[in-house]
Amino acid sequence: MNFFAFGLLLLTCAPWSIYSDERLLVNMTLVRNAAAQGAVCLDGSLPAYHLHRGFGSGARNWLLQFEGGGWCNDIESCLERSRTRRGSTWFMSKWEVFSGILSNNASLNPDFYNWNRVKLRYCDGASFAGDAKFDNGTTSLYFRGQRIWQAIILDLLPKGLNRTDKALLSGCSAGGLATFLHCDDFTRLLPSNASVKCLSDGGFFLDIRDIGLNHTLRSFYENLLVLQCFFPQYALTYITTPFFILNSAYDVYQFHHILVPPSADLRGHWNRCKLNPAACTPNQINILQGFRHEMLATLRFFFGNSTEGGMFINSCFAHCQSESQDTWFAENSPRVHNKTIAEAVGDWYLGRRVFKEIDCAYPCDTTCHNLIP
Ligand SMILES: *[C@@H]1O[C@H](CO)[C@@H](O)[C@H](O)[C@H]1NC(C)=O
Ligand SMILES: *[C@@H]1O[C@H](CO)[C@@H](O)[C@H](O)[C@H]1NC(C)=O
Ligand SMILES: *[C@@H]1O[C@H](CO)[C@@H](O)[C@H](O)[C@H]1NC(C)=O
Ligand SMILES: *[C@@H]1O[C@H](CO)[C@@H](O)[C@H](O)[C@H]1NC(C)=O
Ligand SMILES: *[C@@H]1O[C@H](CO)[C@@H](O)[C@H](O)[C@H]1NC(C)=O
Ligand SMILES: *[C@@H]1O[C@H](CO)[C@@H](O)[C@H](O)[C@H]1NC(C)=O
Ligand SMILES: *[C@@H]1O[C@H](CO)[C@@H](O)[C@H](O)[C@H]1NC(C)=O
Ligand SMILES: *[C@@H]1O[C@H](CO)[C@@H](O)[C@H](O)[C@H]1NC(C)=O
Repeated sequence: MNFFAFGLLLLTCAPWSIYSDERLLVNMTLVRNAAAQGAVCLDGSLPAYHLHRGFGSGARNWLLQFEGGGWCNDIESCLERSRTRRGSTWFMSKWEVFSGILSNNASLNPDFYNWNRVKLRYCDGASFAGDAKFDNGTTSLYFRGQRIWQAIILDLLPKGLNRTDKALLSGCSAGGLATFLHCDDFTRLLPSNASVKCLSDGGFFLDIRDIGLNHTLRSFYENLLVLQCFFPQYALTYITTPFFILNSAYDVYQFHHILVPPSADLRGHWNRCKLNPAACTPNQINILQGFRHEMLATLRFFFGNSTEGGMFINSCFAHCQSESQDTWFAENSPRVHNKTIAEAVGDWYLGRRVFKEIDCAYPCDTTCHNLIP
């Protein structure tokens, strides 16, 4: 049996988004040819994406965004997932809101609004990266993320992706991790004269010990680590495509699931601090500053020498900041050196200026929403 296991880490991106009345809803496209390539969701259903066409000067540019949504770690949790919208297109919404980096409104998304924008639905449970099958006679489960990724690209190429001038691969959380894993692959699949770059939002998962000194996340991915270099901090060294890392230095997902997983805080000493950073004790703040320090050191080591890379590392208690309008580009969006995330990513992508900014430590940033899911 060569299937691999993943940790079940349920997370959703930006449930706090407020959508205006003129929100853009985009139709689902099922990838009909995928089944013949063995590219199917956990339950065997066809994979899907949502495409909104670009226009004007953006008509030959493409933004692909991996949907996020945690992982599943064993047969039982993947089986359960296969009966939900995270593992089967049968259960997914057929229309998706395109906001933030996916918005088609120039005043909400100044640099990418007129590109072809695609949301790749996530239904394999493993950041679009597995290729295996489980079948014991009565139950089948498909771990076919790698094939789904390829099938979607093959479907998009004749729709204009084969003539792309500029392309950006993005995603948050499990989708942010997918951008690390597929970035160079993306470059190889596109025309050789295209300008290709990648953006990982909330996907810089650190291989650290939790407060109980256990490698919680590493043990989650134990089986996977045998198969591939899973932690992005190790993959980053090898990526040759220009990369932008958008992350909070206090990423709440990592804080709640990796630094202080429930297993390491059985008595719930961190519950109040997890809900509100202002309620943390000085000792807890010290531990969080240590986490930030570790993240910055890791980024400097792997990324400090890169001249084409960009980063926006703020100090908000947040996770996923490119997909919701209020954190991407709005009057009161988070800023570093007075730049919003949309401006920073646009500056970097279009080469207007180098953007590698790290915010000062908590609690100095006054632009945070600290919206904890
Ligand atoms: C939705 O997309 C499908 C193809 O994926 C198309 O056949 C259908 O007409 C679309 N529906 C609307 C309302 O645009
Ligand atoms: C674009 O967004 C602005 C700001 O929210 C809004 O005033 C305008 O109506 C939107 N335009 C369209 C075409 O939806
Ligand atoms: C196959 O796996 C499923 C899920 O683990 C289990 O419920 C079922 O009993 C297994 N069937 C056989 C024949 O082992
Ligand atoms: C892109 O795909 C279309 C549709 O298959 C085809 O007509 C066109 O020749 C292709 N263009 C390039 C540059 O490959
Ligand atoms: C890439 O090459 C094709 C074919 O020669 C050309 O049509 C296209 O404009 C070029 N794209 C860029 C970004 O240079
Ligand atoms: C560390 O992991 C071991 C093995 O999973 C577990 O028995 C132990 O309770 C964990 N300790 C803490 C503090 O989380
Ligand atoms: C980056 O440069 C520093 C100083 O020159 C060096 O010590 C470090 O190993 C380099 N990092 C990588 C990933 O090459
Ligand atoms: C910050 O940027 C805004 C425009 O986004 C500008 O109006 C404001 O003056 C800037 N503030 C500072 C202190 O530079």
